[in-house]
Amino acid sequence: MLRQGLLGLSRSSQVRGVLEKAPVSRDVVRRFVAGETTEDAVRAAADLTDSGRLVTIDFLGEDTLDIAQAQTTRDAYLELLHALAEQELSTAGAVEVSVKLSAVGQALPGDGEKIALEHAREICQAARNAGTTVTLDMEDHTTTDSTLSVLRDLRQDFPWVGAVLQSYLRRTEGDCRDLATAGSRVRLCKGAYKEPESVAFQDGADVSASYVRCAKVLLEGQGYPMLASHDPQLIDIIGALAAKELRPADSYEFQMLYGIRPHEQQRIAAEGHQMRVYVPYGQEWYGYLMRRMAERPANTMFFLRALATK
Ligand code: FDA
Repeated sequence: MLRQGLLGLSRSSQVRGVLEKAPVSRDVVRRFVAGETTEDAVRAAADLTDSGRLVTIDFLGEDTLDIAQAQTTRDAYLELLHALAEQELSTAGAVEVSVKLSAVGQALPGDGEKIALEHAREICQAARNAGTTVTLDMEDHTTTDSTLSVLRDLRQDFPWVGAVLQSYLRRTEGDCRDLATAGSRVRLCKGAYKEPESVAFQDGADVSASYVRCAKVLLEGQGYPMLASHDPQLIDIIGALAAKELRPADSYEFQMLYGIRPHEQQRIAAEGHQMRVYVPYGQEWYGYLMRRMAERPANTMFFLRALATK
């Protein structure tokens, strides 16, 4: 119930307006968001790489219906990739970027998908210049086909572009089979949006079972699986599946979100696994934070306690 409610609120512009102005917000947000500026993102990435972790950076924003905003987001990525290259953080993909297509124009009426593709293409070119990669985030199920179509287009020129697949969607095991091919980078996660039963498993156990089936397909395949989860059970299962497939440590990676289970991130990296941390930054933190609260009552309590003690 709480999860569904918070996911519903994640798209409310009224609640967003109130919370973004609340004086407490910035302090609380900082636990999950690296800051607002390019410098903040680069600093967080440098700290994480210093501790042996890999990084993917997300410039926060989504669902834009404003072409100027879509261009601003594109420009933020270009500036970020330039800064990462200058600091030699992006070398060999140690720090890459994650992009939400709805933030670069996918939701615009008419030519949205085409505009998002062009913006993503410019970001990919900048990533190539910086020596790194791009992963397309996956949003709600109404965008899945469009995002996979943009992925196919981009991969013709930039074969290293990755995509996210969500195990809560009933279609995802099939999508994993399609994408478990040589050179293909797939991030598997459970999925963070409010989805109807017709397209998505609703029960946590079903979502986890689907995650295991999908991870198996990806680890048995020829691509580069990126297993994104904080779930200790799933992490153990992924380790066992990778060992069974004799996967070398550099042929797949674990991924977690900034600020979530940081000690576990370091433990996994210290064991010789690749561990990449997803680092969001920027001012548009509302939707992202609401999804984190929906995932875990403790995250919601952290937020409410901070509001109460301010
Ligand atoms: P879940 O939230 O179900 O937690 C399972 C268990 O993990 C818990 O029971 C607990 O044991 C442990 N745990 C979780 N949080 C903890 C905490 N704070 N402290 C201690 N233990 C904790 N989604 C999407 O729809 N599209 C996308 O593009 C992406 N991209 C993405 C990138 C990366 C790198 C990650 C890690 C995640 C995403 N996600 C995403 C979000 C994803 O879909 C999912 O919502 C979250 O990862 C939460 O799911 P978990 O697998 O972590 O399990």
